[in-house]
Amino acid sequence: MASTPCAVNDHRAVVDYLEHIYKNVGSGFGNDHPSGNCDSSNLQYGEVTYDGMGSVYDSFGLKPTDTFYDLGSGTAKLVLYVALRGKGTRSIGLEFGERRHALAETACKNLTAMLEKGGTTAFPALDAPCADFQVQLADITKQRYADANVVMMSNVCMDMNTQLRALDCLLKSPSMKRLVCITAMPPNARLKLVKTVRVACTWAKISSWHVYDVLPPTTSEDRRLERAKVALERRQRTTSQGVVGRSSSMPARSSTPTRSGSIPKTAVLELLVGGKAGGDSQRVSPVSNSDKAEPSSGTTSADRPPRMRRSNSNRSASLVSNVCADRKSSKGARRVAPLPCILVGA
Ligand SMILES: C[S@@+](CC[C@H](N)C(=O)[O-])C[C@H]1O[C@@H](n2cnc3c(N)ncnc32)[C@H](O)[C@@H]1O
Repeated sequence: MASTPCAVNDHRAVVDYLEHIYKNVGSGFGNDHPSGNCDSSNLQYGEVTYDGMGSVYDSFGLKPTDTFYDLGSGTAKLVLYVALRGKGTRSIGLEFGERRHALAETACKNLTAMLEKGGTTAFPALDAPCADFQVQLADITKQRYADANVVMMSNVCMDMNTQLRALDCLLKSPSMKRLVCITAMPPNARLKLVKTVRVACTWAKISSWHVYDVLPPTTSEDRRLERAKVALERRQRTTSQGVVGRSSSMPARSSTPTRSGSIPKTAVLELLVGGKAGGDSQRVSPVSNSDKAEPSSGTTSADRPPRMRRSNSNRSASLVSNVCADRKSSKGARRVAPLPCILVGA
């Protein structure tokens, strides 16, 4: 069943609310002092304008269950904007300037009071409920971010050390999927730049902000697999111009190996591993994603060598790496695959 799109409040209606909320709240510009022993050189201030918020909001790609963070949230205008647009379950702002944080708290109280009134003639109730919001007096480099999904890092005036330490904390969170920064982050294997978005701010009519997808961490298994794939591709290229060898004991297949030497996307991986002492080959069928899938050889899980009992969704691939590992390290081992491991086009 298709999911119903979450209602999102109109940008203009939300800006009307914000203008009212911030009428009696002081400015974030001007002197401040950082909480704790934080470095005061990062206290410079600037704000995204209301128009700019409208431009950057879409790039957050918020889903109804997401938690949004603004790191370096100043007086929390962006935090409250996101909450008022109504998508995402929570919007959280972290700011270490004590004065700005106090202003943000006042703004939050104003919004709460407005919402409790439940709509007036001047401010009709919004279509979608306002998401939860909160502001914290906190140093962004010392947080856990366990629930963070979408994060705005207002890094325009932050030193690189602060940015990298905050990024380090963010990347520990398994739920992170999007990071938007004002200035580009240094290259990082887990950050994929998807686009830049033009945003109006107080320091520039238009500034290009950077939108990153946060990629899942690579495990050592992934890296081993990648190395094994490269080795197989290299071997395939050097074997008969791409026609890979077939073991005489391998059952015939109707498929034709690729001539180009590259592994077709639809390739079915077949590994011949040395069978019982007599040298019978044992064929491993393409492995389904189901952990319950059994190899077609009819062996039970207890019969199978340990490498066939993995409950990894990428089992066929990890089999490659394991077999290759076996080849390197198993002097006299019984279950050594005859060279080469065989890839057959599906
Ligand atoms: C450019 S302002 C952005 C304000 C707000 N996000 C906006 O766009 O309207 C950056 C803010 O980051 C805050 N900041 C800098 N380093 C910080 C840190 N380590 N922890 C928390 N806040 C920090 C500064 O005090 C400043 O208020």
